[in-house]
Parts: sequence; C-alpha cells; structure tokens
Amino acid sequence: MLQAMAGIDSSLLAGYQAELAQKAQVGQLRRCRELVWTPEAGPMAVQVEGRPAINFSSNDYLGLARHPRLQGGAMLAVQNYGTGSTASRLIGGTNPLVLELEAKVAAFKHAEAALVFNSGYQANVAILQAILGPDDFVFSDRLNHASLIDGCLLSKARWTRYRHLDLGHLAEKLAQAPAEARKWIITDSVFSMDGDYPDLKALVAIAEHYGALVMVDEAHATGLFGHGGAGLCQQFGVSDRVALQMGTFSKALGGSGAYVAGPKVLMDWLVNQARGFIYSTAQSPAVLGASLAALDLVLDESVWRERLWQNVRTLERAVMTHGLQEWIPLPLKSPIVPVLIGDSAQTVAISEALLAAGYFVQGIRPPTVPPKTARLRIALSAAHTDAQIEALCVALVTLLRSFG
Ligand SMILES: Cc1ncc(COP(=O)(O)O)c(C=O)c1O
Repeated sequence: MLQAMAGIDSSLLAGYQAELAQKAQVGQLRRCRELVWTPEAGPMAVQVEGRPAINFSSNDYLGLARHPRLQGGAMLAVQNYGTGSTASRLIGGTNPLVLELEAKVAAFKHAEAALVFNSGYQANVAILQAILGPDDFVFSDRLNHASLIDGCLLSKARWTRYRHLDLGHLAEKLAQAPAEARKWIITDSVFSMDGDYPDLKALVAIAEHYGALVMVDEAHATGLFGHGGAGLCQQFGVSDRVALQMGTFSKALGGSGAYVAGPKVLMDWLVNQARGFIYSTAQSPAVLGASLAALDLVLDESVWRERLWQNVRTLERAVMTHGLQEWIPLPLKSPIVPVLIGDSAQTVAISEALLAAGYFVQGIRPPTVPPKTARLRIALSAAHTDAQIEALCVALVTLLRSFG
C-alpha cells in the first residue's frame, strides 16, 4: 500500500512501488540495515538490527577502521583545520594535508604524481569520463566494478567487454581495433565479488603489444598485496608500466576516499577535465588525517597484513576439514571468498540463517553479480580469530547441507 505524503500525489509514485514489490518477489529487494560495532563483545563483534554477530561482511581487511593511530590522525586534522574543506580545490584552494597525502600516495605507488578523490565510485566515473573521448576504444573485463562500467558508459567511448580474466579474448578484441586509435584497458586488480585477479604482467605485455594504455583499480588490493601493501601492480612488478593505478582508502586503509597515481601529465589532465574532481567539494580534514595515518601505518607495520594472510590460510584449512570445497574452491586468492549459491531467494535465506547463528555474511545478488550467480560473500579481516573462522565453517556446512 502506498503511504500518502502531504503534497505529493501518491499515484505518481505507484510505478516505483510496483517495481519494488516485484524485486521483493524474486528475492532482490535491497534495504539498509542498522549495524553497530560492539568491540566490548570481542573482535569483529557487531549487532545487526540488534542481533549479535561476528562480522564477515566488512572490507576492513586489516582491521584498521577503529585503530587509535587513524583516529588520532583524524582528530589532529580536525583540531588544525576544522571539519569542512569549504569548496572544491580549484575554487577554494588546496589544504596542505591533500598535498602531503598525494605526495605519499605517489611514493607508495611508485608513480610520478597522484590525485585524491572523495570516493572510489566518484574517482572511477570522473577519471574514465575525462580520459576517454568518443573516438577512443576502451576494453574492460566483464566483471569490472559498477563504477568502472558507469565511467565507460558516460565517456561515450567505443566500449568492448572481454570475458572475465580471459586475456586471449582481450587480445582478440584489441586486434580488431584500428592500430592508430587510442586504446585503454580497464580492469579491477582484485575483483570485489569474486576475490580473483588477472595476471597483470601478461595483461601489460598484451597492452604494450597493441599500443594500449592500462588503468587498474586496486580498491581491494591496496594494503594487502605487494611490498608495503602497495598493491597488485607492485606485486607483479608493473607499477611503472600501468598508466593509471587507482585505489581507495575506504577498504583495507580503514577510512574513506580514493586516489589515482600515474604520470604528471595525466594528473594535470584530470585536474582540467575530470568533472567529479572539478565540481565536488574537496575531502574533509578528518578524512585526510585518517588516510595519512593509515598510509604511514601500513608501511610501518606489516603485522596486520601478515595476520590477514594467516587468516586466509586458516580458512583454507577449515574449508578442507569441513568438506566445503564444493562451494569454496581452493586455493583462495584473496580475503574475498564467494560461496556460490545461484538463486537469489535461497542466498538471502542462507544469509539470514547464518545471522541467526551469529555470523553476518552478506548475500550478493544480481545486478551486483551476473544473473543466477547470487552468492554469499565472506570477507576476512586480520582481526578475526582462528576460532571465529572455524566456527563460521561449522555453521556454513550445516546450513549449506540443510538447504540442499
Ligand atoms: C573495485 C572497486 N572500485 C571502486 C569501488 C568504490 O569505492 P568507494 O566505496 O570508495 O566509493 C569499490 C567498492 O566500493 C570497488 O569494489
């Protein structure tokens, strides 16, 4: 039933209501649920709408989102610079914390220069819209993040999607484009819903063969892979051959916002052309202070990264012990572990049953993932204990068997 709102003819909203009802019918209705962290109840403890659970749905892979050093960085920045940045950078000037952060990111990513953005979504849309024109060709992995897809669409460039991680297919598509055309290959490094990643060394070699530029989204690799957590480009030894390395502060780095690193000429281009950069108020001091502290911390303390990878290995052992390989193929490539279910309604039901058992593991449904590939998405953190990972597998195997 539509609720009457003063001043709005509710019949004008009926179309939205009908589509929402349709989504609910096929198990694809989304809603935002209250989640409260309850650290007093133990590591990764939360309450989801009042129900206590261990959180296996957070991208806080290193467990830094509540770290005192990040909190201290944010608080000091607020004391020194206040709460708001007051305008876009081109209108209101640039806070020295931004310049410090960009210099640090450039060094971290072994790049000439860097630029920061308010969010990863905003960065990807803004970057792609700026670097691609209607005469350019863009090649993107079929499972790239929505922000990369939206950026490609908005750019009006000639857009081709290649099969997920299939570099042979990519090469085939590149060969069909005119040799003289400007070409960009766009890929996630770690895929956010699958946890896998491309062979970036081979991808860069193909790009060079066809004279294409490469942009890599390191949102889920930053802090986890490579020396000092610099990402997968660093791990594959191709940092200097990837034109744009984008990443976020919002996942393993425990804060929010995003960066892109690459040649100075491209940063200058973005400052002049990227609408999401030009027409948006700069990051607030608290966010910048936390990001600066997070970068220092991941470089100073490898213990969080080591602990996370130990947890990935602990989960692998528990998967074997409990015979879960049918649902969770081994070896695991990253802390993102999909448990493929297929049907959306069943995925929601299993996720709810897990919550009732004390584990918050979000169900991911189309359109976030392709049709008929709904899944549970386990995200491991350095803060999880061995006992929590073991107990999750016990609950999971029982539920998966009982759901058939
Ligand atoms: C691969 C990828 N890129 C970009 C983003 C967007 O980043 P943000 O959450 O900072 O907007 C995300 C996730 O949210 C992501 O998974």
